[in-house]
Amino acid sequence: MSKQPIGIFDSGVGGTSIWKEIHTLLPNENTIYLADSFNAPYGQKGKETIINLSIKNTEYLINKGCKLIVVACNTATTNAIDLLRNTYNVPFIGIEPAIKPAALQTKSNAIGILATKGTLSSALFSKTSGMFASNINVIEQVGEGIVELIENGKLQSEEMKTLLKTYLKSMIDAHIDYLVLGCTHYPYLISLLTKLLPSHVKIIDSGEAVARQTKAILEKNDLLNTETSNSKNHFYTNGDPRIMQSLLNSKFLVEYLDF
Ligand code: SIN
Repeated sequence: MSKQPIGIFDSGVGGTSIWKEIHTLLPNENTIYLADSFNAPYGQKGKETIINLSIKNTEYLINKGCKLIVVACNTATTNAIDLLRNTYNVPFIGIEPAIKPAALQTKSNAIGILATKGTLSSALFSKTSGMFASNINVIEQVGEGIVELIENGKLQSEEMKTLLKTYLKSMIDAHIDYLVLGCTHYPYLISLLTKLLPSHVKIIDSGEAVARQTKAILEKNDLLNTETSNSKNHFYTNGDPRIMQSLLNSKFLVEYLDF
């Protein structure tokens, strides 16, 4: 069982930011990454559609024998993970915006959160925000259009810079000292965000915490792969494989899959 792969899915290429953290911490683990780029972005879709797409991705990975599934998409996590956990007999790891560490560490009492509409309007997000940041000024911003630009390979474009400047303005005006990235596509924007934000603002994403949680759950269920031979890592997308390939080392081959 322990040689079985970890399955990871996202609405597109962004979850590779999570895959990188998992692969760094658990290099022995075999992985299958599924990018549903054809249906990206999930963030503007209704809950039922997000659930149905999450079920489709999960069933593909379970049929491939995955021993654990990482929902490497904030929008799918906040809308579908409870149902997935109640339906399938494998452990699921989800991604939630790292509001807690930002709320605990802020000195200016103001934090920014950039996420999709689907994440910010979810019950799970309201609950987390209410639990950890009720006394803090939380500037929520929907990152409309950002995922589409990343999915189209326009990471460093002028369009992206213009969008980000617009989205950061109210946060800068509110003197945030932490920016929480609430979408797995956004870590690919960190260098650009760093240039656009005042230098004291710290950017937090959930990647490392998710990798640590994945390791802990594998250990707890006695599912760690203890073999030290080279791991096998498969990347499938139903979009243009070249976009995802540009985000990965060329030794990892991205294949087109109609799923
Ligand atoms: C999206 O598909 O809109 C973004 C994915 C995410 O929320 O991480």
